[in-house]
Amino acid sequence: MTDSAAPSAGQLDTVQLGADYFQNPLAYFSRMREEGPVTPALLPHGERVWLVTRYPEVRAALADPRLYKDWAGKLTSPDWVPDEVIGYLSVHMLNTDPPNHTRLRKLVTKAFTARRVAGLRPRVEAITASLLNAIEARVAELSSTGGEDTVDLIEAFAFPLPVTVICELLGVPTEDRAQFRQWSNAIVASEGEPGSFRTAGAAMFHYFTELVADKRAHPADDMVSALIEAHDSGDSLDERELIAMLFLLLVAGHETTTNLIASGTLALLTNPAELERLRSDPSLLPGAVDELLRYVNPLNHATDRFTLEPVEIGGVTIPAREWVLCVTSSANRDSGRFPDADRLDVGRDAGGHVAFGHGIHYCLGAPLARLEGEVAFGALLSRFPGLSLAADLATLRWRPSSLIRGLETLPVHVR
Ligand code: HEM
Repeated sequence: MTDSAAPSAGQLDTVQLGADYFQNPLAYFSRMREEGPVTPALLPHGERVWLVTRYPEVRAALADPRLYKDWAGKLTSPDWVPDEVIGYLSVHMLNTDPPNHTRLRKLVTKAFTARRVAGLRPRVEAITASLLNAIEARVAELSSTGGEDTVDLIEAFAFPLPVTVICELLGVPTEDRAQFRQWSNAIVASEGEPGSFRTAGAAMFHYFTELVADKRAHPADDMVSALIEAHDSGDSLDERELIAMLFLLLVAGHETTTNLIASGTLALLTNPAELERLRSDPSLLPGAVDELLRYVNPLNHATDRFTLEPVEIGGVTIPAREWVLCVTSSANRDSGRFPDADRLDVGRDAGGHVAFGHGIHYCLGAPLARLEGEVAFGALLSRFPGLSLAADLATLRWRPSSLIRGLETLPVHVR
């Protein structure tokens, strides 16, 4: 189809995503996939976007240089231009295009290679064991006092594991993790609610500014200190880039993995035959982590991209200066690519899923997330044979974020 024959904004019906989108986004996406590869939509808070939903188009769009990440001056709505603090926090690699992106990514790539990350396994195992010990002790205490032996698996395990790992790696005090959770949740939840977004952004910005000043004065054997010193062929990070980098690594390093662990556990508990299969054959674990990533999708879609000129995707022309979202969760449920895609199958070859994105922004933390997932699911299943859901499935609530797909809480019994 040529550009002139391709349907554009005026010809396709715009889909309004209601508040129910947060509870069941896949229902919207599967209808959209049936209609076509690209759909104009209004997010629940009213922002106009173009959603790319079929696997081949999502994968191609993620690697398409005509879709830009650097938002400065590219947004359709001038109201959405972030203020100074948010602008400061946003000069990180996920919001930049080459050549700047190439430069920023190169400065941290070495710290996240599969080999480097494999060296973290003993520490990830130790943190996991201590969190599971704490759960066991708490449940024993609750039972002894005749209380309800229910644990919120997110609070007790799925959140503290990845946040402790990334804090230790960066050299950020782990005591401050509850504070990060609050800021980070506000930042990813409040699209359309600039007030809480800005307050949390400003608080994080001040926190990192002080941390960097402290590490400059007292360098340690950690990544913040290494990034302050980072030089690559004479290149280095300026203060703005450094703070933005820390912000990105901390938020990206736990928001997503928390949801892989929590939503993945829920997926296994609601598919007991698959859970038993995995428990009885731990050699399935590495593949099962990828299948869980495909199935639960800790992110509904990749982060924002923008057009500068009209761009044709799958026969649809998206005009210039529009906001495009590559819906990775939808692509991963496209039966054209993954047969019987709505079925969890821990033995499936889920290779090629796009839960970590694709192209130059492919997740830098993928080896770390896979390691954490493997250790977490392996330990949880072997330690707690009686693990079960402690709430009616219909009462579980998902966080009101367009980007993040994550449960508010996951009440479980562990024995
Ligand atoms: C299950 C866990 C994770 C998932 C599902 C996930 C998903 C993603 C996705 C989809 C992208 C690409 C976004 C886009 O193209 O718009 C991305 C990028 C990124 N992720 Fe992750 N991520 C996870 C864990 C982590 C961890 C543990 C880190 C730790 C540091 C991390 C750091 C990053 C960074 C720095 C980028 C930006 C890369 C770039 O722009 O070149 N992620 N992630």
